[in-house]
Order: sequence, then C-alpha cells, then structure tokens
Amino acid sequence: MRLQDKVAIITGAAGGIGLTATEVFAREGAKVAMADFNVEQGEEQVRELRQAGYEVTFFQVNVADRQSVDEMVDKVLAAYGKIDILINNAGITRDAMLSKLSVEDFEAVLDVNLTGVFHCTQAVLPAMIANGRGRIINTSSVSGVYGNVGQTNYAATKAGIVGMTKTWAKELGRKGINVNAVAPGFIETGMTAKVPEKVLAQMMQMVPLARLGKPEDIANAYLFLASDESNYVNGTVLHVDGGIMM
Ligand code: CAA
Ligand code: NAI
Repeated sequence: MRLQDKVAIITGAAGGIGLTATEVFAREGAKVAMADFNVEQGEEQVRELRQAGYEVTFFQVNVADRQSVDEMVDKVLAAYGKIDILINNAGITRDAMLSKLSVEDFEAVLDVNLTGVFHCTQAVLPAMIANGRGRIINTSSVSGVYGNVGQTNYAATKAGIVGMTKTWAKELGRKGINVNAVAPGFIETGMTAKVPEKVLAQMMQMVPLARLGKPEDIANAYLFLASDESNYVNGTVLHVDGGIMM
C-alpha cells in the first residue's frame, strides 16, 4: 500500500473530489481526517466508509476561520498523534461577470479558497516540522492559469494558489516538506453541475480529450503527490485537465 499508516487531512472531504480522494487514500492504508463544513454529509460518508473497513474520521471545520482550523488540527493530533499529509481541497465558486460581481461574493471566495489554504497550511506546519517531513498538496484550477469568463474571484484565488505553492516549496523544502499543486480542468462534481449546459458544451471544445474529468482523475494525482513515488517532486503544478493547458 502506498500510504500505509500515513495520517492525511483532506479538506472539503464530504463530497466531490475530496470524498473520492478520501476513499483512494484510505484504500492505500492512510488514516484520513475528513475535514469539512458540511457535518451531516460528512458524518454520513464516514459511516459508509467505515462500514467498508476504512480508517476515517470526520472533523467539522470552516477553513475560512482560523480558530476553527486550529481546533480541527488539535483534534486530529489528539486522535492520530501526527500529520503526514495535508490536501487543501476545500473550495467554492460564486460566479458572476465582473460588472455584476458583489464585493461580498468576491471576498467570500477569497476567504475560503485562498485564506483558507493559508490557515490550514500554517496550522499543520509545527507538526510537520517536528516530524521532519510532510506533504502539502494545494488545489489550483485551469481557471487560475488560463482565466475564465465569470470567475474573477475564483481565478484570482486559484492563481494565488500557484504563487503560494511555489513560495512554500522554496521555504519548506529544507525542512523535509514537499509542496505541490494539482490544477484540475473541468471535473464532474457539484461544482460543474451548476454551470449552464450551453457554457459547458463550449468548454468541452477546449478539451482535447473531449470530456469532463472524473473525481478519481484528481484523487489519483493527489495520491501520486502524497506518496513516496514523488519524493523529488517539489513546487510543481500538475495539470490534470484532459490537455487544456499544454
Ligand atoms: N465570453 C465572452 N462573453 C460572454 C461569455 C463568454 N464565455 N459568456 C457570456 N458572455 C457575455 C454575454 O454574451 C453577455 O453579453 P451582453 O451583456 O453584451 O449581451 C454577458 O456576458 C452576460 O451574459 P449572461 O447573460 O449569460 O450573464 P449572467 O450574468 O446571466 O451569467 C455567468 C454569467 C454567471 C458567468 C454564467 O454565464 C455562468 O455561470 N458561466 C459559467 C462560469 C464558469 O465557467 N464556471 C466554472 C464553474 S466550474 C469550476 O469553477 C471548477 C474549475 O475550477 C474549472
Ligand atoms: P464540491 O463543491 O463538490 O466540494 C467541495 C467541498 O468543500 C464540499 O464538501 C464543501 O462542503 C466543502 N467546503 C466548502 N467550503 C468549505 C469551508 N469553508 N470549510 C470547509 N469545507 C468547505 O467541489 P469539488 O468540485 O470537489 O472541488 C474540490 C476542489 O477542486 C476545490 O478547491 C475546487 O476549486 C477544485 N477544482 C474543481 C474543479 C471541478 O471542475 N470540479 C476544477 C478545478 C478545481
């Protein structure tokens, strides 16, 4: 197994890509702390995953709130004693054309997608440094690299993730911590389900593989970057988008 006895925090694990990543990591022997805002869905998923024999626990968190993040990290350490892997996967969209985008929606997306990643990473750092090793994996997006109509706020955060990833890779490498990002294209989850059908059809014309990606496609990229197979990979942005960015 590729993650035997590793402790992984996955944020946004109650649904979508984070939930699939939880299953993939647990199947590879990891103990997974599923950290999400949505208690009801998170606890239901934990029950099902435990019935399947996986070592998973739900921790409620709002990644945008520093106190909530600190409490979550303390609880994970109390339960498992260490943190080997952090997957900063939680994210939201509030799409609108620039002319119609409210300040509230601009800030809400920054708070979760950008400040939330800063909070979670800073909060796990002492445990990873004490351990002498760690893996931090951030989630960017094709929107952050390429831009996307209607996503001023979201694209800003996902471009910001690239800057933070490369900065942390430089700061933390000598402490044994690898920091990388995955930049998904359009993936079949609740997030893309909100996109008008006509817009989605337009987007598919940009994808050489001519289809949406599946949550497994991203979960497998997270797995590679969390496993020993990527020991010498640091500061990279892995595009998993069917060939949009090349
Ligand atoms: N390029 C250029 N102009 C565009 C356009 C495009 N792709 N889409 C719309 N416009 C123009 C329209 O022609 C229209 O122009 P006029 O006012 O001159 O007629 C104007 O923009 C407004 O268009 P709408 O009436 O459609 O605007 P709206 O306010 O009703 O909706 C929207 C705008 C919210 C952005 C909606 O189109 C939408 O939801 N688009 C999808 C956004 C998107 O791609 N989100 C990705 C979600 S998945 C995700 O985020 C994951 C990831 O990381 C990729
Ligand atoms: P999703 O909407 O299916 O799941 C997101 C999860 O994050 C939900 O369980 C939600 O409860 C949780 N969450 C939201 N706000 C939170 C908060 N403040 N604190 C804690 N948890 C919170 O989204 P999806 O598609 O699984 O996205 C996962 C990540 O992948 C996000 O960062 C997203 O931006 C990114 N991404 C998704 C793409 C797609 O096409 N689906 C493409 C590119 C990137």
